[in-house]
Amino acid sequence: MSIDVVVLAAGKGTRMRSALPKVLQPLAQRPLLAHVLATARAIRGLRQLHVVIGHGAPAVRNAFAEDIDVLWHEQAEQRGTGDALRTALSGLHSAERVLVLYGDVPLLQAQTLADFIAAVPENALGLCTGILADPHGYGRILRGANGRVQAIREERDCSPKERQVAEVNLGILLLPAAPLARWLGQLQPANAQGEYYLTDLIGLAVAEGIPVEPFCLPDPQEALGVNDAAQLAEVERLYQRRQLTALQKAGLRCADPARFDLRGELRFGADCWIEPNVIIEGQVVLGDRVRIGAGAILRDVEIADDVEILPYSLLEGAKIGAAARIGPFARIRPGTEIGAAAHIGNFVEAKKVILGAGSKANHLSYLGDAEIGQGVNIGAGVITCNYDGANKHRTEIGDEVFVGSDTQLIAPVKVGAGATIGAGSTITREVPAGGLTLSRSPQKSIAHWRRPKKSGTPA
Ligand code: UD1
Ligand code: CA
Repeated sequence: MSIDVVVLAAGKGTRMRSALPKVLQPLAQRPLLAHVLATARAIRGLRQLHVVIGHGAPAVRNAFAEDIDVLWHEQAEQRGTGDALRTALSGLHSAERVLVLYGDVPLLQAQTLADFIAAVPENALGLCTGILADPHGYGRILRGANGRVQAIREERDCSPKERQVAEVNLGILLLPAAPLARWLGQLQPANAQGEYYLTDLIGLAVAEGIPVEPFCLPDPQEALGVNDAAQLAEVERLYQRRQLTALQKAGLRCADPARFDLRGELRFGADCWIEPNVIIEGQVVLGDRVRIGAGAILRDVEIADDVEILPYSLLEGAKIGAAARIGPFARIRPGTEIGAAAHIGNFVEAKKVILGAGSKANHLSYLGDAEIGQGVNIGAGVITCNYDGANKHRTEIGDEVFVGSDTQLIAPVKVGAGATIGAGSTITREVPAGGLTLSRSPQKSIAHWRRPKKSGTPA
């Protein structure tokens, strides 16, 4: 039998105290709803994906404009979870079974859902339950003398005795589609919140003799909802831990699992080592034996074997060749390719730079829009002056060049292979290969020179 998934995501999320609609709040840099949709898409027999939106609907639709497999339903007024599902009915006439998920419950795993679906007979109503140490805020599962589920009672509507029940409704439901429209039409807002409760369907099913099948989630944390900033952070940590555990199983070494953040996708070879507080974003690829130092941030980079990234370096949109060494405190910007065994040292910024194998820029440099050959030495404080205030210009440096410290290369400019540039030079014209080039005013010394004195002091 096919399954339609309806994700409820119309709520305001008042407690987030944010201008961003709740389901757009980021988890590992992707909206909460994106995680739920990804899980839903993995369901076998999925017929159609529906999302019920309300608060911030235009922003949500806009954020998911490329998700053309989603059928959006707008709930004009948030009158409860039952009313929310009713909003989606227009898209459910040829549905067979309907699975209800929540846009703010992002940790649910595809395998868990598959187990749940497999556990619910086709004619039955399935619900995910959990035994919680603190059931506060959840609907309680009420069972009859025969042990069968009779109803779900929202906490606010519970008697003191019912409130003692530790078994709760985690919210995820699998419903037969045939009676759905009829059931939803029967809901009454006769409860403490004056809302149409989806959970009242359980009582209706029981009354009609439709089997109700509870499925106790082995790990109820998977059903954690995000309602405020603290829960968002808690869910983020759980998510990070889960991701890292999978990476560790594939051999990644990480100094401190509590201080590792992956907001994207990481591929890696053997014996890679990650120090604390590293942040990895976008698509990152590490070869074998790569070491990432404390506090480094890697965004969309490809790093070859045996590279060492020293602490507090920021690398973005770049390729780093085998056995290169970067940092500490280096900034590698998009379009940069660092050759094998090259070194980029502290306080060096490189933007759109091709740096040849074995070349070094170890201290305090700005290299931008430059193509630098192999075996080049860039002295401390060298700057490629690539910007004239209007346009960017290129610097080309041949193999085996030595650029003395504190040299400015006024682009566009070329430096021939093997050239040596004396320290402190301002290079404005092409430097021929081989020889020494320097632009430096001659040094002079004035003997017996006296420093000025403060006025009023005796001579
Ligand atoms: C609901 C369940 C409760 C369960 C809990 C699990 C009901 C009546 N209660 O309670 O038994 O223990 O989830 O977390 O279903 N939403 C809409 N439109 C609405 C109302 C809600 O789209 O009109 C969406 C919200 O955006 C949210 C979800 O439905 O994502 C749940 O709504 P919420 O009001 O938070 O339900 P709970 O009170 O937590
Ligand atoms: Ca509520």
